[in-house]
Amino acid sequence: MENRVCKLFGIEYPIIQGGMVWCSGWRLAAAVSNAGGLGLIGAGSMHPDNLRHHIQSCRAATDKPFGVNVPLLYPQIEDIMEIIVEERVPIVFTSAGSPKKWTPFLKEHGIKVAHVVSSAAFAVKCQEAGVDAVVAEGFEAGGHNGREETTTFCLIPNVRQVIDIPLIGAGGVASRQSYEAAFVLGAEGVQIGTRFALCTESSAHPLFKERCRGLKEGGTKLLLKKLAPARLVDNDFSRAVESAENRGASEDELREILGKGRAKKGIFEGDLSEGELEIGQVASMVSKEESAADIIKDLIK
Ligand SMILES: Cc1cc2nc3c(=O)[nH]c(=O)nc-3n(C[C@H](O)[C@H](O)[C@H](O)COP(=O)(O)O)c2cc1C
Repeated sequence: MENRVCKLFGIEYPIIQGGMVWCSGWRLAAAVSNAGGLGLIGAGSMHPDNLRHHIQSCRAATDKPFGVNVPLLYPQIEDIMEIIVEERVPIVFTSAGSPKKWTPFLKEHGIKVAHVVSSAAFAVKCQEAGVDAVVAEGFEAGGHNGREETTTFCLIPNVRQVIDIPLIGAGGVASRQSYEAAFVLGAEGVQIGTRFALCTESSAHPLFKERCRGLKEGGTKLLLKKLAPARLVDNDFSRAVESAENRGASEDELREILGKGRAKKGIFEGDLSEGELEIGQVASMVSKEESAADIIKDLIK
C-alpha cells in the first residue's frame, strides 16, 4: 500500500505498533518494522541509558525505519530527547503532554513527529504545533487514556474534519475488519497497542499476557480519572482504586494507593493481584499466542 502514512515513515503497511510501557522494547519494535509496519520503542518505562541500549539493539536487528514513543510527562525528558538526537532516531511519537515544546526541536533535527490525542480540539493544536501526523486514540484503547471518553468510532471522523495532515486511528483495532473500518472513517493508518502487547516479542510477563488473553468483553475499566486515566483489568488493585473513587477519594489519596512502580509490577513482573494491568477493551478479541509478523500478515491478507 502506498499512502501518506507509508510515505511519511518509509514503511510498507500503514500499521504502527504503539509505544507501550514494559511491552515495547527493541525486540517488539524490530519485529514489527521487519514485517513492514512501524515499530516504536516505548521510552516511558526506560531510564535514559536503557533507552540508548534499546535504540542501538533495534538498529542492529532491523534495517527498516523504527521510532521511539515519548510520553512528554517523563521526568528526564531532556536526557531522553538528547539521546534520540544523538542516536539519529528518524521518527518520534509523542504523547501525554503538549506538542508545542518539543516538536520544533525534533523537527530541527530532521525527525518526523506524530502526536497522540484523544480529542479533535487537541488535534488542531498538534497541526498548529507543526507535527507531521496525528494519532487519534479512542476510549477503547489500552494504557493511559483521554478524559473525554470519545470512542474511536466518533473520534476519527471528528478529527478528520479539522486537520489536513496524515491521521492515524488508534483504540480497538485488532482485526482485518477494524483495520478497514478505521480507513472508512477517515484514518490513513492505524496504531495498535493491545494485540502487540500480547504477542510473542512483547516484553510483558507471560502471566500478564495469559490473563489478558483470557479477558471477556467488559473485562477492563477506565479508572484513575482524577490522576491520569488508565484502562485497567479487574484485580485487587483496581478494586481498591474503584472503591476509593466511589467514596470520593482525593487526588492525594489516589496517588497514595497507586504508589510507585505499579505498572512494572503488573505488566513486567506479572503480579496479577497488586499490579496495574493496563490493556485495551479489544483484549477480549485476542486469545492466542502469535508473533508480530503473524499479526501484520493477518491484518493485510
Ligand atoms: C500495556 C500498554 C502500555 C501502553 N503504554 C503507552 C505509552 O507508554 N505511551 C503511549 O503513548 N501509549 C501507550 N499505550 C497506548 C498504545 O500505544 C496504543 O495507542 C493503544 O494501545 C491503542 O489502542 P489498543 O490498545 O486498543 O490497540 C499503551 C497501551 C498498552 C496496552
